Amino acid sequence: MNESNPIRPIEWVGGLDGHVALIEQTLLPEKFKIIRVEDVETMWDAIRRLAVRGAPAIGIAAAMGTVLGVRGCDEGDEAGFRRRLTEVCDYLRTSRPTAVNLFWALERMVKCADDHRGRGVAEISKALLGEAQAIRDEDAAMCRKIGEHGAPLITDGCGVLTHCNAGALATAEYGTALAPMYVAHKLGRAFRVYADETRPLLQGARLTTWELGRAGIDVILICDSTAAVVMREGKVDLVITGADRIAANGDTANKIGTYGLAVLADAHGIPFYVAAPSSTFDLPLADGEGIPIEERDPDEIRRGMGRQTAPDEVSCYSPAFDVTPASLIRGIITERGLIEPVSGASVSAMLGNCEP
Ligand code: MRU
Repeated sequence: MNESNPIRPIEWVGGLDGHVALIEQTLLPEKFKIIRVEDVETMWDAIRRLAVRGAPAIGIAAAMGTVLGVRGCDEGDEAGFRRRLTEVCDYLRTSRPTAVNLFWALERMVKCADDHRGRGVAEISKALLGEAQAIRDEDAAMCRKIGEHGAPLITDGCGVLTHCNAGALATAEYGTALAPMYVAHKLGRAFRVYADETRPLLQGARLTTWELGRAGIDVILICDSTAAVVMREGKVDLVITGADRIAANGDTANKIGTYGLAVLADAHGIPFYVAAPSSTFDLPLADGEGIPIEERDPDEIRRGMGRQTAPDEVSCYSPAFDVTPASLIRGIITERGLIEPVSGASVSAMLGNCEP
């Protein structure tokens, strides 16, 4: 991490009448552009089209989107304000289905409003903005801790493979899977990161290499299909990915391709780790079977990055995420510590008392 110039993909600017400043991630690495989001519809769209993406960042976006959505309600009508809050949260819930952080953050916003019931619209609005900012700040702190807990896994001279982007861009700051790399780099360890390009939207190629390169970390971009080869060549000592939703038994949903990587890592005897904050755990969900998997527009495959890459009429299947069974995961790095081995009992021992 470039400490003097950190990457903060989402920030609230100003007071209640302020706006959200977002890094427009669809333009990276060609262009670094900050966009201004002033209403909940624009925030919904930014989440949907991946201008802001990555589970923790989506949660922050939903929280800040809630504040934007309830602005302008009649100050004297608390009941009307509550109805609008429900409407806004229901709307934001439809933006993307897999990352549980979105639902977790909205639950926190509703609870915050409940806790301030009867105090008037102005005070509840102020509390909601404070809650959204707290969600952002707590995420930054959790990511820092994940970095500290995960850094001992990255030893001098090792090779780490990662998938998609679970870095600063996907969180408030620092990232989850990339946080241990930032800490290890700061400690002076020399290591190499293999970044999968991550088809179809190339978060690994566009975002992870940009982030790691900016921090001065040795990163090699590979096609997704090269992962098996670099493993067989002995270049990879461990895999670390992020997560979008982790069930009570440790089954983990993450970017499509993660499950395949875990199978490959198992076949080559390479430890496979997941890094995620407690906000990514869905403890009421017993296992990965129940995780809703988003399907994306087929044109993201047929017209990769705007160019025709397949015939218009070809049928496509494009799940955005897959589920890696807990049995293939060596450990889960959380802000509270490393869960290893991964089982219902170890997850519950570390996170059992998590509340939204
Ligand atoms: O579709 P995306 O880009 O939102 O998918 C992101 C991922 O799958 C990340 O690995 C995950 O959200 C963890 S982010 C810290």
